[in-house]
Amino acid sequence: MKKTYGNITVCIYETYDEMSEHAAAFFADEIKRAPGSVLGFATGSTPVGMYRALAGMNKQGEIDFSRVRATFNLDEYYPINKTDAQSYYYFMADNLFDHINIDRSVIHIPNGQAADPAAEAKSYEQQIAAAGGIDLQLLGIGANGHIGFNEPGECFISDTHVVTLTPSTIDANSRFFDSPEAVPKQALTMGIKTIMSAKKILLVCASESKAGILRDAVTGDITPKLPASILKLHADVTVMTDAAAGKYL
Ligand code: PGA
Repeated sequence: MKKTYGNITVCIYETYDEMSEHAAAFFADEIKRAPGSVLGFATGSTPVGMYRALAGMNKQGEIDFSRVRATFNLDEYYPINKTDAQSYYYFMADNLFDHINIDRSVIHIPNGQAADPAAEAKSYEQQIAAAGGIDLQLLGIGANGHIGFNEPGECFISDTHVVTLTPSTIDANSRFFDSPEAVPKQALTMGIKTIMSAKKILLVCASESKAGILRDAVTGDITPKLPASILKLHADVTVMTDAAAGKYL
């Protein structure tokens, strides 16, 4: 089922697997249209099925990642080692990059081991600009409405920056760690302007627990208290959900 809310197209699929297949096809179409695209990737549970589908399409020879100009991930914990199984560096290798024919040298993920995280954030922003910006950015949405690690707050922060994670995000993400105390307290994240500068955005959202926040983001007021609500100001956003997450839309 397809609906539009202003500039946002919402596609609701019956199941998570169906949503994942369509999200993968959306990325595949972009890569076929422009093999040298700059792609923005995201982590979390939601994109896992989409990454699996993309890896399958690559294996079948349906899509070719070899000419992708650059990839940029939204965020990374700080501090964290790349070898740590909870790092987003590790996640991306494990879920996507190890399974596709991408040139490793074009992959960018904020460095969770940087000695100077503020300098790392600045350099990351410059690298995105030097690549010509992001053609297609994948997003998830946090239970608190965050995109990347842009947490709810009093204002939108524009560029890639260091952020202190909210207790709700630490709690939500502690399921991947031994304990809430083991979750890094900070992260490096693309800013709102970085995300909004992407030419096209695909947001994936699954499970009933996200239904309320997704409805508020798509149909409510634009406010930094719900960072995903800014997407209403972007010209080309597609939201894909399973039936549970899309039940109020
Ligand atoms: P999830 O995370 O896909 O694991 O729910 C989404 C997010 O926090 O952006």
